[in-house]
Amino acid sequence: MKFFIDTANLDQIKEANDLGILDGVTTNPSLMAKEGIKGQEAIFKHYETICELVDGDISAEVVSTRFDDIVAEGKKLAAIHKNIIVKVPMIKDGVKAIKWFTDNGIPTNCTLCFSAGQAILAAKAGARYISPFVGRIDDSGWDGMELIGQIAQIYDIQGYETQILAASIRNANHIIRAAELGAHVITSPLESILALLKHPLTDIGLAKFLEDAKKL
Ligand code: G3P
Repeated sequence: MKFFIDTANLDQIKEANDLGILDGVTTNPSLMAKEGIKGQEAIFKHYETICELVDGDISAEVVSTRFDDIVAEGKKLAAIHKNIIVKVPMIKDGVKAIKWFTDNGIPTNCTLCFSAGQAILAAKAGARYISPFVGRIDDSGWDGMELIGQIAQIYDIQGYETQILAASIRNANHIIRAAELGAHVITSPLESILALLKHPLTDIGLAKFLEDAKKL
């Protein structure tokens, strides 16, 4: 399972990359706004910087919602760097645009997926990634992980090549469950990735080993 970091914060991207386990980055307009990045030039420059920092797939999201505009915007994003993945929302024009990008050799990440039906459409259109938002599904009283399992089963039966990218990760257990259920990728805030490291018995055990090492 690949690990992407879900942020536009350069320090966090560097920290995750320094761990040696990072395979890519996902961003969205909210994450870009959080970093105070404004205007197309600054946004494009920021994507370029991320691409220079991390050698992997970097999702850059379109903010257009009409087919022609999505295609025009996606082409510009894809031209920034060879590793850019054009992130397109799961809407009617988005599906049509994903198919256009697929036919024209531009990889896509279909975002805002909340159902198996949407995941089937994204796969039919040839998206490289489908992003089910597990945390937001949990927040609304449903089970985000159930959707990951359902999509994994459907993709397996149908032989779809689209990769399941579990997004909207809220904690370490989401990452573990995504791995168990066959997600190909998780995209997570740094905090949840680092939470995988933690176990009290590791801390207790290490303290004891270091104490005993002084006796050697
Ligand atoms: O990038 C898409 C997704 O991961 C957003 O997560 O935490 O805003 O629900 P969140």
